[in-house]
Amino acid sequence: MAKYPVVVYGASGYTGMLIMDWLIDQQIPFTAVARNAKRVQEMMAQRVVRLESATYEIIETEHTVDALVKVFKGAKVVCNTVGPFVNFGLTAVEAALKAGCHHIDTTGEQSYIRAVRDQFGDLYRQAGLVVAPSTAYMYAFAEIAAELALETHGVDVLETATLCRGPRFAAAGVTVGSTASIFELFRSEQCYLWEKKLVPHAPGTTANVIDPSFVQPVFSLPWGGTSLPVFYQNDPRVHSCSSYVGFYDNNVMQLVHGLGQKWDAEYKDLPREHQDAVIKQIVDSTTPSMPPRERTTVVRTVDFAIGRGQLAAVRATVHGLTAYISTGALQTAAVMKLLDGETNKVGFVSACKAFGHRYLLGFLEQRGLARATVTQL
Ligand SMILES: NC(=O)c1ccc[n+]([C@@H]2O[C@H](COP(=O)([O-])OP(=O)(O)OC[C@H]3O[C@@H](n4cnc5c(N)ncnc54)[C@H](OP(=O)(O)O)[C@@H]3O)[C@@H](O)[C@H]2O)c1
Repeated sequence: MAKYPVVVYGASGYTGMLIMDWLIDQQIPFTAVARNAKRVQEMMAQRVVRLESATYEIIETEHTVDALVKVFKGAKVVCNTVGPFVNFGLTAVEAALKAGCHHIDTTGEQSYIRAVRDQFGDLYRQAGLVVAPSTAYMYAFAEIAAELALETHGVDVLETATLCRGPRFAAAGVTVGSTASIFELFRSEQCYLWEKKLVPHAPGTTANVIDPSFVQPVFSLPWGGTSLPVFYQNDPRVHSCSSYVGFYDNNVMQLVHGLGQKWDAEYKDLPREHQDAVIKQIVDSTTPSMPPRERTTVVRTVDFAIGRGQLAAVRATVHGLTAYISTGALQTAAVMKLLDGETNKVGFVSACKAFGHRYLLGFLEQRGLARATVTQL
């Protein structure tokens, strides 16, 4: 049973520990949960800032619904970072519901997010609880941009781009968990929203995204489709929404695109165990260990949304820093609202809709993590 109101699940992981940094900054006590308590203790001692002033406990548990319910009970909010979420996420979502906790997570994996909405949205709503996937850099920054664009009357079509600098996999920047999640995208349907329906992108879809911050177009991919088409499907303001992701200072996207094409040609129809082995081999070869803490001179981001209506056209951009550190900040911003009982909606909901895009943007701006501009076109 959790002694404290916030559970950080995946407490031995890179993002879990960054969430703890921000919780400690806000003097919020937490229960750190993972499958190996000794590893949590060692990693926290190495990585978590201000640990000496934290109020916390560590609990080791198996990753099963029953075991997690026992641990989560007593808490109010579960911050879940155990991914890939298509593989592990729903177990924790079910456990948080049974334990009477809100559940927020760090993933943008579209097929998992659809499953959460379809299997758990109503149950969380009936319980008066929030289940808010994607309370993370990807794709809350793009969603903040989209919401800023939607402030222009008449906008009903969105195109978003998430452009990041830094990730080079093995050379430092992307964690083991993220790499595993990225390559899990190969076997998921990746959809955009077209006239209120989720439609699969054609195999091999790419986009050359143009932004005035860059000299050259940025080679981008649907990256699983992102969370935004799902979040906007039942939003009466938006008919269509498509989203792309690109890394702008290196050729990682080309590499991933090449692997995606190889997947379609050689592995797509293999049995799941064989596919698991292929993904494991790719993950092991790209990310051998936990990367260092992000630096502001290296990890920078540009997320923008173009909104169009019959005559309206607007471009909203969020310039950001340190995507993983910002993810910890967003989770903590959400936790603060949930502990205060302040949410605009319960059930399946995006972070922007639950807590307000202006609140999240303000939280990031105040900490030097984001800056937004809006231009009428
Ligand atoms: N959308 C975004 O902007 C964003 C930002 C940050 C993170 N993320 C996502 O968040 C997830 C975590 O990322 P990360 O950077 O924290 O990765 P990480 O450093 O590899 O940490 C993963 C955590 O999950 C645990 N875990 C892995 N497999 C498990 C299993 N079978 N059972 C129980 N626990 C398990 C790990 O425990 P052990 O230490 O025992 O292995 C660790 O605590 C990824 O899916 C990533 O894509 C997304």
